[in-house]
Amino acid sequence: MIARSQIIGCGSYLPARLVTNAELADKVDTTDEWIVERSGIRQRHLAADGEVTSDLAIAAATRALQAAGLSGSAVDLIILATTTPDHTFPATATKVQRAIGMKHGFAFDIQAVCSGFVYALSIADNFIKSGQVQTALVIGAETFSRILDWTDRTTSVLFGDGAGAVVLRAGRGKGASQDRGILSTHLHSDGTHHDLLYVDGGPSSTQTVGHVRMEGREVFRHAVINLASVVGEALTANNLKAEDIDWVVPHQANRRIIEGTARKLGFPMDRMVMTVERHANTSAASIPLALTEAVGDGRIKQGQLVLLEAMGGGFTWGSALVRM
Ligand code: UT7
Repeated sequence: MIARSQIIGCGSYLPARLVTNAELADKVDTTDEWIVERSGIRQRHLAADGEVTSDLAIAAATRALQAAGLSGSAVDLIILATTTPDHTFPATATKVQRAIGMKHGFAFDIQAVCSGFVYALSIADNFIKSGQVQTALVIGAETFSRILDWTDRTTSVLFGDGAGAVVLRAGRGKGASQDRGILSTHLHSDGTHHDLLYVDGGPSSTQTVGHVRMEGREVFRHAVINLASVVGEALTANNLKAEDIDWVVPHQANRRIIEGTARKLGFPMDRMVMTVERHANTSAASIPLALTEAVGDGRIKQGQLVLLEAMGGGFTWGSALVRM
């Protein structure tokens, strides 16, 4: 028998304020038709003034703990994936720790932009498999609206705010793909593409937060290639075929990236969980938001095989295969 990290609860939170494409078209030179056709996005949620990433993270974490039937004191580890922390330091995860009443263990943030949730899940899985941690809270939370240049139509229409969380608990398995829990994770990065997707500020360089800059077309091209590759890697490592996967929960950057990846791998679109039209790209939050939605509405059922995949700035990319 080997240790397996099992997802025992999911939760998410979206800020109340809904912003449609039409509303953005009043501010920048764009149209609802362009945004829908090129990205699939119809609306996004944006945090209210004064509402910060930890507020979103705490709300999602509280719901995930409720779904798991656990109190905060049962959590040994919090990993919060975010590109938009409340402060440069301390880690936003420690604010979540305080809010949920967790007085032991440890909490930290990780930064892998849109791949952040898959990275965080992989790190937590390794802590659980090593026996160091029994229960982990893995969160993706973003207020990406705070690092957008609202005069730049090529980026401002694409992103939204939100948070999602899962509770992982140590279980046992036989080391086979029938086991419940995380079966594998695969992570990659390639620093040579830094300039295709980055923020033009930071504490050490400009002493400002900066704004998102992106060569969209190039990022798009790399995304489909890298995502197809890292999904293929997960299937091969587990001796599985596309038809063995019940659901794919992709990072929600662009409907056409999701369609392109599905086509390349032979996944039918009705097995891809899609939220991009309603949430836009919420970076590290997009996968746990989509996962929580599909678990909550009964599409994803216990025992099913779910593949998570993401790609983001760095470049970073990765996949996680989970039996729910
Ligand atoms: O989470 C991971 C990071 N992000 C991504 O994965 C995003 C990856 N990229 C994309 O999703 C797509 O490349 C975009 C949605 C960003 C853009 O779609 P595209 O089909 O690649 O369009 P494009 O960048 O090639 O732009 C086409 C045209 C350009 O005009 P010209 O040069 O053809 O005259 C742009 O200036 O569309 C113009 N354009 C816009 N027009 C109306 C760019 N943004 C807008 C806009 N409204 N918001």
